[in-house]
Amino acid sequence: MTTSKKTTGASADNAITMLADDHKKVKKLFKDFEKLKEKGDAAEKEALAEQICAELTIHAEIEEEVFYPAARAAIDDDEMMNEAEVEHASAKDLIEQLQAIDSSDPTYDAKVTVLGEYVNHHIEEEEKEMFPKVKKAKLDLEALGEELATLKETKETQIMGGAAKSSGSRSPSARL
Ligand SMILES: [Fe+2]
Ligand SMILES: [Fe+2]
Repeated sequence: MTTSKKTTGASADNAITMLADDHKKVKKLFKDFEKLKEKGDAAEKEALAEQICAELTIHAEIEEEVFYPAARAAIDDDEMMNEAEVEHASAKDLIEQLQAIDSSDPTYDAKVTVLGEYVNHHIEEEEKEMFPKVKKAKLDLEALGEELATLKETKETQIMGGAAKSSGSRSPSARL
């Protein structure tokens, strides 16, 4: 059975591929930041860091609101789910710290780098542990993907005014 793809966002054929696409995108943004860090263009760095924060915030929220509750109910591994939620909380804390400063702050680049390290570790755990367990469980990943895509689109409109969908490299004046 094919599910209609009414959303225009990611190719959301199922929940796992959609979240993995987000992961790939955000990992690339962190790599871009590491390159920019050396060149040291303040405005570009800040625009990129803002985009990273916005993408991560939306991704974390759709996981917390839709994917994690479904996964928690389906796979019976509260310890793993609790750890994932604690990791989200740490990342959010760092995102808030970043949003409170600008790139003239001596800790700015370090905060982005450490956030990238947290996030890469978290992504690794989701992709190597959580997603395989969810795939084995009896979950309708297509329906869950639709739900995630719809929620993501709503949040993108709220947070970025839809800018991230078209540009991909810059989010003008995105403020959380
Ligand atoms: Fe996550
Ligand atoms: Fe994730």
